[in-house]
Amino acid sequence: MRKSDVISAILAERKNLLPRHEFSKAYAPSNIALCKYWGKRDQELNLPITSSFSISLGNKGATTELSLCSGANDEAYLNDHQIDWISPFGKRLLAFLDLFRVKPELHFKVKIHTNIPIGAGLASSACGFASLTRALNLLFGWELKEHELSILARLGSGSASRSLWHGFVEWHAGLKSDGMDSYGEFIPDEWPELRIGLLILNEREKPINSRDAMQRTVTTSALYSAWPTKVSRDLSALKQAINLKDFLLLGKTAESNAMTMHATMLSAWPTICYFLPETITAMNKIWTLRHEGLSLFFTQDAGPNLKLIFLEKDISSVQAQFPDMEIVSPFELLGQAAG
Ligand code: PMV
Repeated sequence: MRKSDVISAILAERKNLLPRHEFSKAYAPSNIALCKYWGKRDQELNLPITSSFSISLGNKGATTELSLCSGANDEAYLNDHQIDWISPFGKRLLAFLDLFRVKPELHFKVKIHTNIPIGAGLASSACGFASLTRALNLLFGWELKEHELSILARLGSGSASRSLWHGFVEWHAGLKSDGMDSYGEFIPDEWPELRIGLLILNEREKPINSRDAMQRTVTTSALYSAWPTKVSRDLSALKQAINLKDFLLLGKTAESNAMTMHATMLSAWPTICYFLPETITAMNKIWTLRHEGLSLFFTQDAGPNLKLIFLEKDISSVQAQFPDMEIVSPFELLGQAAG
């Protein structure tokens, strides 16, 4: 099954396939997985081996402005810098736009604005592709259902399937080979006191991108076979934690899930290590603070930076230890359509 077959299936009932508008604009928040997506069962369709669970990053995300372009080619800008079509992100973006080019002379002008560092493990591609998917839906006037938008966003970047909503989202792995049952689902539970701290330790580009790192882990790590069992336990624990508002269970589950994911990478060959010395120093500091009684946990994605997880009541204690950290309130914008 190819991406274009998925698009045809989703848009099958749309009679007019041409854009209905000249311009559209949409926002999507970034998201951080509390239970990670690590490993694909289908590389082309970004179908995951396991389900995953995330929390959105409120006003940290991407806004995409999309218009029809009269020139002979597409044009794209990221934070006002023209995107080079031969850069890795440019290639992915162009391949995604090609899926929606209903006639060869149709060209798009895409302007993505994001307020998070690019490629630093802060899910910049997730919110980028999710906001672009929402903008395409508006431009073409498809009026797709939320789970259909999630399927389309997944074709751009796996974790984009979780970036269409504010709050908690579960991405169901699904079983079908066409991925029609693999999409994000908004979880209506709220936890307004939760805070996420973005601890940017290093903004350098990561040594290996998540797509290649995942694949290498799946094919070479002796520990990977333990990952699906860990995920299913952690998904249940997270749901229980949210249900009972048990912060210690939430924090412990998220941190242990991230550490297990990194353990599978450390055991891949060649080894994949996203830890920098400053990452380890920050982890040790968090463990010491926790030992001293502060309810503070972290998670880490495919980059050296940490996301701290804590409650509103501890903001001043956490801020005193990490003064440069930016604090996000994931539930602040809940109720406002992410688009
Ligand atoms: O969607 P991708 O290809 O950027 O992969 C995301 C991988 C992690 O951020 C490490 C985990 C996750 O679930 O977001």
